[in-house]
Amino acid sequence: MRMVDIIARKRDGKELTSEEIQFFIEGYTQGKIPDYQASALAMAIYFQDMSEQERADLTMAMVNSGETIDLSAIEGIKVDKHSTGGVGDTTTLVLAPLVAALDVPVAKMSGRGLGHTGGTIDKLESIAGFDVEISKEQFVDLVNRQKIAVIGQTGNLTPADKKLYALRDVTATVNSIPLIASSIMSKKIAAGSDAIVLDVKTGAGAFMKTPEDARELAQAMVRIGNRVGRKTMAVISDMSQPLGQAIGNALEVQEAIDTLRGRGPKDLEELCLALGRQMVFLAGKASSLEEAEEKLREAISNGKALQKFKEFIANQGGDASVVDHPERLPQAPFHIEVPARASGKVTEMVADEIGTAAMLLGAGRATKESEIDLAVGLMLNKKIGDTVKQGESLATIHANTEQVDDVIQKLYASITIAAEGKAPALVLDIVT
Ligand code: URA
Ligand code: CA
Repeated sequence: MRMVDIIARKRDGKELTSEEIQFFIEGYTQGKIPDYQASALAMAIYFQDMSEQERADLTMAMVNSGETIDLSAIEGIKVDKHSTGGVGDTTTLVLAPLVAALDVPVAKMSGRGLGHTGGTIDKLESIAGFDVEISKEQFVDLVNRQKIAVIGQTGNLTPADKKLYALRDVTATVNSIPLIASSIMSKKIAAGSDAIVLDVKTGAGAFMKTPEDARELAQAMVRIGNRVGRKTMAVISDMSQPLGQAIGNALEVQEAIDTLRGRGPKDLEELCLALGRQMVFLAGKASSLEEAEEKLREAISNGKALQKFKEFIANQGGDASVVDHPERLPQAPFHIEVPARASGKVTEMVADEIGTAAMLLGAGRATKESEIDLAVGLMLNKKIGDTVKQGESLATIHANTEQVDDVIQKLYASITIAAEGKAPALVLDIVT
């Protein structure tokens, strides 16, 4: 087999065989196929697309390019949740204990990553003592006994995707549905879960700017998952404005606690229920999505979800008293209000711009080496569709300095107040 023939076949719109795709991925991972040939193939795929079978083959070839996590020692159907990324997305912190309270095993491997705030691991580390560096044995044992554990990323998962994603980044081939879908799904499948629930975001703060693109990506991923034997469902959700009120690490832990108590922001609760019901259903703990949702609501109202969160923290060495005493979480010394400059309705809160404001405060990493400040961030006091009076606070800045003019300017630039405005729908579609 020759790489040049594979490129030519894709260029001409032919369907690649499973062997050809494997030849490419293996050769590229091992450094036998050069970047220029891989770039040419990526560009051919960008223009010619891939069939469902090719997408599934590409995904599995990338899964098999490195280590995979074996969760077979954990009883039950392991369901993982993945979000394509947004601003102030606190759903994992809520969902993990919430579904675990219904005996769905949550065996979560999580990263730190770059972004407006830290990743799930950073957020959890704002709880004193919380340790994600547990052994594989402890991890499996905790999930079997307590249904929940989170561990930091280990192992060399999907090296082919790492290499190809970096190449796509510099060859204008990131934005291709078959390449994005196989990239995301390969990582999820390598992480070992039996079923996958996807939260595909759309809007200013999301990778997919329009609902149509988000739906296409969601369908592509759901089909790949089901084709390779991992039951997969997806929710398309709005990310034109940040999710919930809190954007920041400790602030989001507090928001998760409020939500587990049934007193969180309505949008965050709605999305957690939409994703949670798919997780509970796929785990076989309910016979319909409606029944699953009822059970989730019950776990919130009877306190079991909150109790599970406390157990989870204590199991991993953390101070579970923060659940009842959130003031024990890291606190920023300065709280600065951002008053509205006009009266009316909030019509716009551009998610990625507000995320950047949180990052200016130090809530997220610009580079891998950046230090994160777990205490800082933003609390949005208004959301799109809310009525606001001039002088009323739009947001509260939690900062470690009083010099936050740049953050205030960023917030004013991203929030619009006009005569008419209405809250956008949050859950736009369900893909099964
Ligand atoms: N996120 C991924 O993990 N892969 C892509 O290709 C795009 C976004
Ligand atoms: Ca939030």
